[in-house]
Amino acid sequence: MWGGRFAEGPASIMREINASIPFDKRLWRQDIAASRAHVAMLGAQGIVDAADVKAIDEGLQVIAAEYEADEVPEDLDLEDIHMHVENRLAELIGPAAGRLHTARSRNDQVATDFRLWVRDAIDAVDAGLAAFQAALVGRAEEHADTVMPGFTHLQSAQPVTLGHHLMAYYEMARRDRSRFADARTRLNESPLGSAALAGTGFAIDRDATAATLGFSGPTANSLDAVSDRDFALDYLMAATQCSLHLSRLAEEMVIWASQPFGFVTLPDAYSTGSSIMPQKRNPDAAELVRGHAGRIAGCMTALVMTMKGLPLAYAKDTQDDKPPVFEAHDLLALSLAAMTGMVETMGFVPERMRALAESGHATATDLADWLVREIDVPFREAHHIVGSAVKLAEDKGLGLADLALADLQAIDVRIDASVYDVLTVDASVASRVSHGGTAPDQVRARVAEAKAALEKGE
Ligand code: ARG
Repeated sequence: MWGGRFAEGPASIMREINASIPFDKRLWRQDIAASRAHVAMLGAQGIVDAADVKAIDEGLQVIAAEYEADEVPEDLDLEDIHMHVENRLAELIGPAAGRLHTARSRNDQVATDFRLWVRDAIDAVDAGLAAFQAALVGRAEEHADTVMPGFTHLQSAQPVTLGHHLMAYYEMARRDRSRFADARTRLNESPLGSAALAGTGFAIDRDATAATLGFSGPTANSLDAVSDRDFALDYLMAATQCSLHLSRLAEEMVIWASQPFGFVTLPDAYSTGSSIMPQKRNPDAAELVRGHAGRIAGCMTALVMTMKGLPLAYAKDTQDDKPPVFEAHDLLALSLAAMTGMVETMGFVPERMRALAESGHATATDLADWLVREIDVPFREAHHIVGSAVKLAEDKGLGLADLALADLQAIDVRIDASVYDVLTVDASVASRVSHGGTAPDQVRARVAEAKAALEKGE
């Protein structure tokens, strides 16, 4: 299609390095949609006559059906999806096909197609994240009262509720969705009509093609529109952040499923056995989600490096924008689906969580708070008193709540029997009623808000 000024065809190595069809065929839907919008506009503007517009549009629909049926052969000589579609159109309708490329270039074409593809990808991820959130909210509601150890430094810190812990991931997913939504808003301008780099002298109507393709309007600068790929980077950065969140939960599942923890039993459907150790049930799905986060971040880095230092306008380097985005998207979609399935089906072991919450002196802060509240001890002094109580409990191999009143009074005479009301893990979590705190009532309130938001599609 560009052979006019060349005496010889490309070397086979050139053909191979040049071709993007092995991966950019994924853009066929968007390519055909953008071409149909373009030719309809060319017709409406009187640039291509009605008979040719009709022939081109019908031909494009035939090609769409052929792609749907996976019937279009790949030819490296035809480089990319744009040339494949145009070439097939010529086979189907003859020379009129040559009018489709009036007032456009593959540069604005690929920028448009790829934006449309990333927009669909964002919508798919948003749906996946909403399903993930719904799974978290469902399990959080079920376990609003289930007590588990809360950790800092992975050391028992204070008791929390499992519902609260799960809802932490709901909040992360909520911000992920808002990042993808931001990316979508910025992405949603149409490059079509920017042509090769400078715009075109034809009397095109960019507002019309933008509207047909669901864009909010045309891009404002042709050089920018054909060459920048920040929309793809926005997607990859949001995907990276999202995958980091998923990998944190995945890591917790791995830890929780380990025998020393025993907080969860993994569902059969999301674990694997060992070919040598018959007792094994391995958290492979969670481990792969954890691993995929590294690959997704790698995809993001790959495109960052591709774009660094590229002069305006289009350069072929940008052809390399698609593989990392496709790869990251596939990995993220799979990770989200796997995590949603695991959250929905994971067997929690509340007795085990409670036992560990009770064994780690996790109510030490509650004892300090009691000293502050009931006998007006300054917090720093209370901290010191409780330190002695924890040491005594440790020496005796007991929990704080199991120390005799006489032992506690030996540490500080002002302590009385009402202190035992705050030393249980249930009293501890119930007392944390501050906004966003772990108290079961707080968790239930947030779950109710989350459910309402999800029902509204938020
Ligand atoms: N396959 C190319 C890409 O993905 C399409 C644009 C080609 N434009 C060009 N001037 N060679 O970037």
